[in-house]
Amino acid sequence: MGTDSGQIDTVMQETRLFPPSAEFAAQSRIGSLAAYQKLYDQAKSNPVAFWEELARKELHWFKPFERGLVWEEPLAQWFVGGQTNACYNCVDVHLASEKRNKAAFIWEGEPGDTRTLTYQQLHREVCKFANVLKGLGVKQGDRVSIYMPMVPELAIAMLACARVGAIHSVVFGGFSAEAVADRNNDAQAILQITADGGYRRGKNLPLKETVDAALAKSPSVKNCIVLRRTGSTVTMQEGRDHWWHELMDRASADCPAEPVDSENSLFILYTSGSTGKPKGIRHTTAGYTLFAKKTFEWVFDYRDDDLFWCTADCGWVTGHSYIVYGPLAAGATVLMYEGAPNWPAEDRFWDIVEKYRVTVLYTAPTAIRAFIKWGDHHVDKHDLSSLRLLGSVGEGINPEAWMWYHRKIGGGRCPIVDTWWQTETGGIMMSPLPGAIATKPGSCTKPLPGVIPEILDDDGKPVPANHGGCLVMSHPWPGMLRGIWGDDKRYQEQYWSKFPHRYLAGDNARIDDDGYYWIMGRIDDVINVSGHRLSTIEVESALVSHPCVAEAAAVGRPDELKGQAVSVFVTLKSGTADDSLREELRKHVRKEIGALAQPDDIRFTGALPKTRSGKIMRRLLRDIAAGKESVGDTTTLEDYTVLAKLRSDEE
Ligand code: WT7
Repeated sequence: MGTDSGQIDTVMQETRLFPPSAEFAAQSRIGSLAAYQKLYDQAKSNPVAFWEELARKELHWFKPFERGLVWEEPLAQWFVGGQTNACYNCVDVHLASEKRNKAAFIWEGEPGDTRTLTYQQLHREVCKFANVLKGLGVKQGDRVSIYMPMVPELAIAMLACARVGAIHSVVFGGFSAEAVADRNNDAQAILQITADGGYRRGKNLPLKETVDAALAKSPSVKNCIVLRRTGSTVTMQEGRDHWWHELMDRASADCPAEPVDSENSLFILYTSGSTGKPKGIRHTTAGYTLFAKKTFEWVFDYRDDDLFWCTADCGWVTGHSYIVYGPLAAGATVLMYEGAPNWPAEDRFWDIVEKYRVTVLYTAPTAIRAFIKWGDHHVDKHDLSSLRLLGSVGEGINPEAWMWYHRKIGGGRCPIVDTWWQTETGGIMMSPLPGAIATKPGSCTKPLPGVIPEILDDDGKPVPANHGGCLVMSHPWPGMLRGIWGDDKRYQEQYWSKFPHRYLAGDNARIDDDGYYWIMGRIDDVINVSGHRLSTIEVESALVSHPCVAEAAAVGRPDELKGQAVSVFVTLKSGTADDSLREELRKHVRKEIGALAQPDDIRFTGALPKTRSGKIMRRLLRDIAAGKESVGDTTTLEDYTVLAKLRSDEE
């Protein structure tokens, strides 16, 4: 147990095992553990050769590459000497096959309006918009800032940038003017693309208004294209602002994709660092596109008759990789939804699944916990029998939430792929292959072929089974970030300095006796009780397994005796927030995972502070638990009132 070398103690006991059904395995791409192991071992023995072969086969090359990998740590270059184009690989390649008339996107707006774009139609729109970009002087390497609602034009804008070799920076439509300006300035964007508004919970999201405030502070932006979505009144600044439809009316549909070098930047995506200043994670063309495509096909066991729904926003990497680049490169049909899961009612997702007969659903634990809280009756109203596979991403999924997802949404028949990855990794790194790997609730199971993780203690030595340590990647992979935009030093320090020659993911993890990986939370979030290092997710999962608990967050607070005490914040789905429930929860945790992890303080709260992508912000809770007056950076907080409420509960 507790050691000085940075190992984490595990207290979780999860033994349920769900093998894929024979039926599912029989029709899947990789249909047995042996087939997975063979592919994995082959890739591991020579990762570069493995990826080279796939790159030749899976991507269109205007000019073939000469070298698979040039590794000048910490900068990787993949498929050097080659020329390709991400947009071409996502759209044009399908025009010569029967996929031409297949839907690329089936879209539903929050008010219920719908639209379908075949690959041929998508091609036409993207070509026209690429000409619009060129008409405004956008050239290869220029940065384009996109701040839009979840409408097909968002994907069209991304693909059009890729087509001309420009670099897109998508900023989530819920961010403030300040955040948009910061990102525009950091990237020195020359063009802004936005909309008059978007729909969110029946209300108009005034995107153009926010952009106006942002552009007042981002002088590099010379032009702004505005899509008409809601029809709300906006001010158009003469000479700077242009209506999307007016530019498109005049644009030619003839625009060949620009051949670009493999390592041409495809996009920058800003992710909040723990210090607050967002980092522009840079991804490039060939490696990223290949990685998004293959991981999509493997993990979601892609079939031509699938309707794949990823509920993320394109403002996050999940939307980049699994709404746009991965599925389109694979020629899949993607469902895209504009709005909130609880509008007009809490059954909107299930309504959509039933209406379109979605086959694969990919969503986040924060959403799953909300569905559980909203109640099963919303699910029971709908026929979800079209679903064959479920996915989870963004945070660890508590085993009880996993079980609910499995039983209630998957009808007990759909495998669940719990996918571990990061903005930095470009695509999924660890996940069950659903036809090959039996799942365990709460485990992301095994690394994908060509991905080589290790778990190290603070001295850089691999930890034994069932001990937590730092998750690292021991070999470059094609989808990896190529750096932080404009900050090589931070890139080196943050990811490559703790262990020599290893990519530091920043998460703790352990491997169990079956070689399964269990993510234990962020390195910074570890709770140290009397020299025992506890993982946040294990304490939280124990709480969530109590029938009254909807969500839980565990943090450490200073304690004179123990070093740190376990302080938890709990939202309830039933029961009364009183001392007797507090006592019951304490006993419950003691029974589930032991006395060591038993919470010292339990606070009941209506909601937990989360990032806009739904991750619990434990950093803020740590400050509150410690009784600090002011808390750290809150710019990424989704709902400021949550913090105010938590504070007032204190008094
Ligand atoms: C961090 C990355 C993954 C794309 C969207 C979020 C946590 C992500 C899992 C999972 C446990 C997970 C990690 C990771 N995380 N997926 N399946 N199990 N933790 O990307 O915002 O860059 O966040 O999210 O802590 O490091 P991101």
